[in-house]
Amino acid sequence: MADAGSASPRQAALRVRRPTVVDLRLASGLVLFAFALTHLLNHALGLVSIDTMLAVQEARMIVTRSLPGTVILILSAVVHLALGLARFTQSHIRRMGWQNAIQLGFGLMIPIMLIRHVLGTHGVNAMFGVDDDYRYALWVMWPGQAINLALLIGLVWIHACIGLHHWLGGRAWYRRTLRLWQGLALLIPVLGYAGFVSAARLEQATGTFRNPLSLSQYARYVDLVTTSNWIYLCLLAAAAAVWGLFLVADRLGSRITVTYVDGPAAHAPRGLSILAISRVNRIPHAAVCGGRARCSTCRVRVMKGQDNLPPPSDLEQRVLRRLGAPANVRLACQVYPKGNITISTLLPAKIMPDTDMGIDRYLWGVERDVTVMFCDLREFTHLTEGRLPYDIVFVLNQFLGRMAETIEDTGGFVDKFMGDSVMAIFGMEVSPRVAALQAMAAARAMDGVLDGLNQSLREALPAPLAMGIGMHSGPAILGRIGTMRQAGGDTSALTALGETVNLASRLEGKSKELGVQLVVSTETADLAGLGPCAGCVPQMVDVRGLSHPIKVYAVRRATDLPVSVAATS
Ligand code: FES
Repeated sequence: MADAGSASPRQAALRVRRPTVVDLRLASGLVLFAFALTHLLNHALGLVSIDTMLAVQEARMIVTRSLPGTVILILSAVVHLALGLARFTQSHIRRMGWQNAIQLGFGLMIPIMLIRHVLGTHGVNAMFGVDDDYRYALWVMWPGQAINLALLIGLVWIHACIGLHHWLGGRAWYRRTLRLWQGLALLIPVLGYAGFVSAARLEQATGTFRNPLSLSQYARYVDLVTTSNWIYLCLLAAAAAVWGLFLVADRLGSRITVTYVDGPAAHAPRGLSILAISRVNRIPHAAVCGGRARCSTCRVRVMKGQDNLPPPSDLEQRVLRRLGAPANVRLACQVYPKGNITISTLLPAKIMPDTDMGIDRYLWGVERDVTVMFCDLREFTHLTEGRLPYDIVFVLNQFLGRMAETIEDTGGFVDKFMGDSVMAIFGMEVSPRVAALQAMAAARAMDGVLDGLNQSLREALPAPLAMGIGMHSGPAILGRIGTMRQAGGDTSALTALGETVNLASRLEGKSKELGVQLVVSTETADLAGLGPCAGCVPQMVDVRGLSHPIKVYAVRRATDLPVSVAATS
């Protein structure tokens, strides 16, 4: 049977990749989001009691005020802000989508609000030893900074939610539960603000307060806030100046032409991505993730002018490799043409990540954790020697047809037939654990079906049919591959791509080498709860394309699998 693909040592090495700018922005953003989220939830406890607020704040501060916690927070803030300013200066910002523009604009406004807040709490604690717990904050921030606080919460939260939405937008589980996340996105800031206000009013109605800052300390605090704000405004002005220079350079610089097959020819200054050129010229172009190299929906086939494109960056390469894209397919959001090119867009411009709208979500590919199975009929060439073509086709159809039925009966999806083998995917609509259990159940049932088939064909065959099965669980890209001229066109077929598929295929090949019917990766075994059993032997095997041996379960016959791991409910 043909292998589903192979990874060279270089490709394997590339899997341990350097973090990209997008990775850094995401990682630093997630740290800051975790801080903001726990901060708001802590505020919300003001609806319960001030003592509860204080107790949780104390616990949070063990982490956030520790040396590692402080360093991580400061580093994340600096990296995130620096990347935001750098992004602002990039020329393609001028044609970014409105969501990106709002996210970036809000992000750049956050420091203006945040400087005063941070210096008024953590700052005075560090400089003057002021205990900046909630009792202090409730007095100094309410009601004088009520609007500032509401604006700060709004800016931080909207900025974070847009970023998270773009990050998670391609994941099926997120889209399935979108309403829940939308509800939480509204509820958390409202509860946070309400908790703070409620606690502040209660505290001020029942307690007394003496500001711990002396007049001179307060003056130093105000000076520091003013200086910090000016420094930040200067940074913003410098970024705006660079942005303006790009703008002027674009106007004065030479222009290039991008010709769309069956579409217009677009003219634009150098320095824009293909996606930005589409937007400048109001040419519809799919971009579900907003140009973050996460969705691949913007991809184009370059028909002419490949030499006018720079080689793909690590980030673009990673996405293209996952798609198994040929060399002339590029991500429009990541490639900046240096000269004239002719392209063809590969996906409809209006696609949305929403199955509720009746659009095929596999059209542009989704990533899911699945279990992939390969099943191959053994020694078929030998069995067919001297037989009529009709007999060969009959036996093959009997085998593949019965196996496909069994796969579908146990919840799998028959991806494709390849000669005398079949590839199946489990887990397109169920959890990874259920997918692994379904695949085990399928293998067990297939072994039984094979016995029945051998009984019915015993007169027609010189020897019983035998099969080998390999299965592995992990992330795979599910998408429609083929001609995509029309959304939902019938010339494209749903398939799975990626390393999970390759390894499952190789494990099927291993079953022959090991003299067993089934080889299961540890990932699948762990998900299904399979341990050593009579007929299931864990062992280390070398697999082509991997630099280290991996542990697998070699199962003499699939019917040896314990019933418990092959149950689907
Ligand atoms: S727009 Fe998502 S990868 Fe280009």
